[in-house]
Amino acid sequence: MKHLLDTAALTRADIEELLTLTDSFVEVSSRSIPKVPALRGRTVASLFFEDSTRTRLSFETAAKRLSADTMTFSVSSSSVNKGESLRDTALTIEAMGVDAVVVRHRSSGAPHRVASWIGASVINGGDGWHDHPTQGLLDAYTLRERVGSLDGCRIAIVGDIKHSRVARADVHAFATLGASVTLVAPPTLLPPSVVGWPVTVRHHLDEVLGSVDAVYLLRMQNERMTEALVPSLREYTARYGLTVARARGLGDDVVIMHPGPMNRGVEIAPEVADDRRAVIVDQVRNGVAVRMAVLFRLLGAETRSDRRPLELDPSGPDDTGEAEGSAPGREPAEAPRG
Ligand code: CP
Repeated sequence: MKHLLDTAALTRADIEELLTLTDSFVEVSSRSIPKVPALRGRTVASLFFEDSTRTRLSFETAAKRLSADTMTFSVSSSSVNKGESLRDTALTIEAMGVDAVVVRHRSSGAPHRVASWIGASVINGGDGWHDHPTQGLLDAYTLRERVGSLDGCRIAIVGDIKHSRVARADVHAFATLGASVTLVAPPTLLPPSVVGWPVTVRHHLDEVLGSVDAVYLLRMQNERMTEALVPSLREYTARYGLTVARARGLGDDVVIMHPGPMNRGVEIAPEVADDRRAVIVDQVRNGVAVRMAVLFRLLGAETRSDRRPLELDPSGPDDTGEAEGSAPGREPAEAPRG
């Protein structure tokens, strides 16, 4: 695997391999020195043309925990403001010597374009409404951690499906792992067609909540709405928000998820976001380990002719010289294939 551009390109075996690799990096992240030398000498650049807190910081943390060097591009302080194109920006960053580029862009397909222009690996960090593969992986990992297996797991994804790359990534990741996915939204917040999507569509949240194992709330994406698609946020909350009253009616084991950033009081009540059934913080925590797994999978087995072979010895010292901070416990040094 050279790039990670589309969740839909991942088979069940691919996803399971990445989630198993993630187990190893969760273990690494729990160490007192959460660092291994696996990607020493590699450079990972963040090319973010759209705001992000979780994805950008967790990719940078993941790269550093793998001992890669990092390079951060922020559009607000870049030459994009002088008119530099996406292609020229990507070529400029590649010329500085990078092995992987994480791309976030408001336009669907931008990471694919970057991958066609440069030789480095490209990871889609979220493009328009299209996809957000590492979000799909971290959500699948977090849910699996709670419920054991996604086979037969009943998941409701609620809200602004139309504008949501997270929904598209999660539908594929969850369904590929055997879950039964129901989309819950008013017709105006659904895509024009979901033909081919492995989902059931419902319009009334209260008819669905009694028979789910997990509820996944989506953010109301006001910045992507060009028309009034709901009468008001108050009405949206009344019909589709996970209010305190609705959460009270959920079973003790029902998992509550949200990709962040949240609009507390709109799609999720503040108290519900902090409920013990909510795994929103776990999603963020697991995001680092999932992104370590993805970077390791893409770069860990590569040996470029202009570089020395990668440091993959599990007993080798890390940058700190501490033996503890070497490779993950479950020998991911041997795990990558291809
Ligand atoms: N969930 C998510 O992608 O969050 P950020 O926009 O903060 O990266």
